[in-house]
Amino acid sequence: LLVEKGNHRHFMAKEIHEQPEVIGHTLARYVDFAAETTRLPADLPFDWRDLKRVVISACGTAYLSGLVAKYWFERFARLPVDIDIASEFRYREMPLDADGLSIVISQSGETADTLAALRYCKAQGQTVAAIVNVPESTIARESDVIFPTLAGPEIGVASTKAFTCQLTVLAALAIAAGRARGTLSAEDERALVHGLSEVPRLAAEALRLEPQIEGLAKILAKAPDALYLGRGTSYPLALEGALKLKEISYIHAEGYAAGELKHGPIALIDETMPVIVIAPYDRIFEKTVSNMQEVAARGGRIILFTDARGADEAGEAAEVTIVLPDMPAAVTPIVYAIPIQLLAYHTAVFIGTDVDQPRNLAKSVTVE
Ligand code: G6P
Repeated sequence: LLVEKGNHRHFMAKEIHEQPEVIGHTLARYVDFAAETTRLPADLPFDWRDLKRVVISACGTAYLSGLVAKYWFERFARLPVDIDIASEFRYREMPLDADGLSIVISQSGETADTLAALRYCKAQGQTVAAIVNVPESTIARESDVIFPTLAGPEIGVASTKAFTCQLTVLAALAIAAGRARGTLSAEDERALVHGLSEVPRLAAEALRLEPQIEGLAKILAKAPDALYLGRGTSYPLALEGALKLKEISYIHAEGYAAGELKHGPIALIDETMPVIVIAPYDRIFEKTVSNMQEVAARGGRIILFTDARGADEAGEAAEVTIVLPDMPAAVTPIVYAIPIQLLAYHTAVFIGTDVDQPRNLAKSVTVE
């Protein structure tokens, strides 16, 4: 299979820029745009109404998409989610009820730990659903049902478009679950699906922030460490932002739930520490503003990703604010992933690392 970079300097850049299109393809598979409803196969091997919980396991970036989905399944479908990193899950011998649902998430469908987690779940009598980007992969073959992401081949070692497509599928599943379980009304479903249908356009708008983000890369490239903060579904995104940055730029970065700042990472804050805050305006935005004030008071340099309302409310706390378009809360993790990817990408390009093939990392980790 020959995949070309086109006029992009790296596969990662190409894959970041493909997101409006591949998210659109993925969405078209799981929602009916005209009716504004989700559309899953009628013959699913499980019934959302019978589930007491969902167990999710995955590795790396795929794990972080699952962590976002935990918030969605719990909010939309009142369905508790137990999520773990596959390498932990496979050995912790979690008791599972027979007939429960386990979801594994994997771009390659070949990750050894995720495959072992899948086999453990099957041995415990669980129905296993896989969200995979490679439909002929081992994980796809061994699962009871697959929900493919239609991201197309991903070549850059650091996952980008597979992540946002995983989120797209998971959002549709959580909405479908909510509808089936009666926790979302038909009207709620329409509003949520309408929001999802706007994502390709919002993603394209987010890509237009690239020149601004490229400017920030110069600041970040000089930093020995960086801290990413977020709350709610922006918390997994903070983890993903830190993961992306360390994978490709080799800058040490940590992601934290903003509320945990005071329990440790605040000790690290000084003028050399960029703090990247991911905070679309929402019902807990004020809490994040107080975290930003705590950082600013200690000389920390804040880069804030928010929307117009958030920029207004945050006032002077941030040194730089990147303003994204307004969007429904449910879709922010998908859209905000893009500037976060661009920030890591441009920082790595500025430093001059091998962006598509970072040292010591592999695209597909088929050994334990
Ligand atoms: C490797 C890749 C990551 C990826 C992880 C899980 O570490 O470098 O980008 O997130 O594996 O891979 P999977 O194919 O299971 O999604």
